Amino acid sequence: MHKKDYFDEKAAKWDTLIHDEVINRLQDMVRELALSRGSKVLDLGTGTGVLVPMLIEAVGPSGVVVAIDFAPQMLAEAKKKYQWPNLEFLEGDAEDIPLADQAVDEVVCNSAFPHFDDLKRAANEMARVLRSGGRVSVFHPHSRVYINDLHVSLGGAVRNCLIPEEKVMYAIFSEAGFENITLEDMPQRYLLSGRKV
Ligand SMILES: C[S@@+](CC[C@H](N)C(=O)[O-])C[C@H]1O[C@@H](n2cnc3c(N)ncnc32)[C@H](O)[C@@H]1O
Repeated sequence: MHKKDYFDEKAAKWDTLIHDEVINRLQDMVRELALSRGSKVLDLGTGTGVLVPMLIEAVGPSGVVVAIDFAPQMLAEAKKKYQWPNLEFLEGDAEDIPLADQAVDEVVCNSAFPHFDDLKRAANEMARVLRSGGRVSVFHPHSRVYINDLHVSLGGAVRNCLIPEEKVMYAIFSEAGFENITLEDMPQRYLLSGRKV
């Protein structure tokens, strides 16, 4: 099964699979990002929009959230739940992001990066749509080992969706044009952050 169909099939039940503890971790992570009020944030691989209300609250009414996913059913679930004048949903692929160069201040990508087929291409696209000095934050509410074990045990379309080891992640993001790259990997969170040169 293609990954897009896999996620579309799961869309209606997706939110029931996300526990309160995971929401709490994500809220903490978004709070720690300290997004500037008024900033324009891309939520790449938004799914059912789990991060959307957190991002909208963080950027405030003068900010903008653009939420992109390639699976129409996931987006449909997100759209049912969330409508704000400063929220835009777009169907599109992380490897060919439907935004202009330097269109956003921040890219956040929760629990989606290892699902992209070509990780280098997705990182390059994140760099392209970020303004100079803008920040990428790739995260998961679990460690790398937990996520990779989960995907292997789920099998099928996500079996090969693995977060590369640390030095490979550094290489992917530095070659894409990011600097000041940091990576935290612990039981309750995985977070790679970098600044577009
Ligand atoms: C595990 S879900 C996470 C969704 C959401 N970020 C969350 O926190 O719940 C991964 C999402 O990435 C999306 N996705 C996977 N590959 C993609 C791609 N190449 N381009 C855009 N979205 C993609 C899937 O459709 C799915 O909605």
